[in-house]
Amino acid sequence: ALPSSVTIVEVGPRDGLQNEKDKVPTDVKVELIERLAGAGVPVVEATSFVSPKWVPQLADAAEVMARIQRRPGVRYPVLAPNMKGFEAALAAGAREVAIFTAASEAFNRKNLNCSVEESLRKFDDVVAAAKAEGVAVRGYVSCVVGCPIQGEVRPQDAARVAVALRDMGCYEVSMGDTIGVGTAASVAAMFQACIDAGVPVGQLAAHMHDTYGQALANILAALQLGVSVVDSSVAGLGGCPYAQGATGNVATEDVVYLLTGLGVRHGVDMDQLLDASDFICQALGRRNNSRAAEALLKK
Ligand code: HMG
Ligand code: MG
Repeated sequence: ALPSSVTIVEVGPRDGLQNEKDKVPTDVKVELIERLAGAGVPVVEATSFVSPKWVPQLADAAEVMARIQRRPGVRYPVLAPNMKGFEAALAAGAREVAIFTAASEAFNRKNLNCSVEESLRKFDDVVAAAKAEGVAVRGYVSCVVGCPIQGEVRPQDAARVAVALRDMGCYEVSMGDTIGVGTAASVAAMFQACIDAGVPVGQLAAHMHDTYGQALANILAALQLGVSVVDSSVAGLGGCPYAQGATGNVATEDVVYLLTGLGVRHGVDMDQLLDASDFICQALGRRNNSRAAEALLKK
């Protein structure tokens, strides 16, 4: 059965903008975040407190956090993979952080410069500090069905990492098909493995990239298993326009259109979401990667 309501976690300002080739002005980021929250999106992942050498696009994280007008009831999580990031996030007023690792060893070495096991140990400090400060921690697992280096990833490998993050104290674990290679079959098998391994379905989120055009189908497969948190990116932001194959997250507009059609509550106002979507596409001078937005904006 489908969940009666779904929480949309908007990741465009982080997952989308971290992949932009050109530097996006802080003003534009702030306005995007505020427009998304204004459209009724309950969670807007705002930025990342990571090394500016690794992700120069988000080097203005503290400034973004200082400048956004926070709406009551809206959460603004940020990525914080180590203590340096956590302390900076806390100082910038973050009340929720996300830690991230992968189901694939090879990918984790590329993304975090350490093994999956080492990354989990590094997160212990972050989780303990967050707990002491009353800061909520979300966990991400990347490459849950496929990895650009090692290929196929077994459902039990993704599930094992999900269990570890949950046992560490993450209130929710977002399962990421980082390169968008999953299908409804592999994504359902992966979520089923997580549930079978003991992660309550209410603590799982679907984080789908749309490289192969499967993201909406994969989300529907997740919803059918009872997953009720979906990560998405306005206008389908993300992916490097110069690296063939890598594309952004599923578009928030497309998810909203699907949920509305399914009669699943989501609380997002499509017209205001389209305003946010149009705003960021104009600001970046790029075309809209949401099919629903393209169709609706033409009307
Ligand atoms: P490292 O080089 O192993 O770390 O990187 P280090 O501790 O040796 O530090 C290296 C330098 O970075 C030092 O500076 C540190 O001070 C600095 P230096 O002495 O050379 O001048 N540094 C920092 N600066 C600011 N903030 C920090 C921070 N930490 C260290 N927090 C590290 C390890 C984790 C830092 C690095 O690998 C990193 O920043 N990686 C970022 C990875 C990232 O952001 N990836 C994208 C997000 S994950 C994702 O997109 C997937 C997801 O969407 C789900 C999915 O789709 O699958 C979530
Ligand atoms: Mg992602």
